[in-house]
Amino acid sequence: MSHTISKRTILAGTAGAAMLVAGLATVAADTVPPGSGDGSTGHRLASEWCRDCHAIEPTAINTGKPAPDFVAVANMPSTTELALKVFLLSSHKTMPNFIIKPNDADDLVAYILSLKRK
Ligand code: HEC
Repeated sequence: MSHTISKRTILAGTAGAAMLVAGLATVAADTVPPGSGDGSTGHRLASEWCRDCHAIEPTAINTGKPAPDFVAVANMPSTTELALKVFLLSSHKTMPNFIIKPNDADDLVAYILSLKRK
């Protein structure tokens, strides 16, 4: 795992993620105004924090990385701005629990959504 990530990583408890989601949906919607993210900042953050496990580039498909390619994530029917924010601001079992500030999450989400094929 890269040092840039571990600096910002907290291994909080892994339980209760599902329970948190309902509450976080409200929190995320309140703290993060929709559509305010900056995709180019998001791309930079993604290459610092997410690249170890995810393919983050628009052309990166089926890279065999352990985590889903961002292009694939962006194009899942279930992927929405809110769903991504909730995911990023909640805790996960399989992904390290980042402390992502809401406006960083916003930028990351804007970047991921920019990979959606319209
Ligand atoms: C240590 C490896 C690792 C790192 C670093 C990592 N992820 Fe993940 N990520 C995973 C794994 C494994 C999954 C699939 C399992 C899951 O959904 O929990 C995943 C799933 C996801 C999903 C959900 C896809 C879905 O099925 O809904 C999103 C969105 C995501 N990651 C975004 C990010 C972002 C943004 C970053 C950087 C801030 C990041 N990840 C960093 C391992 C990682």
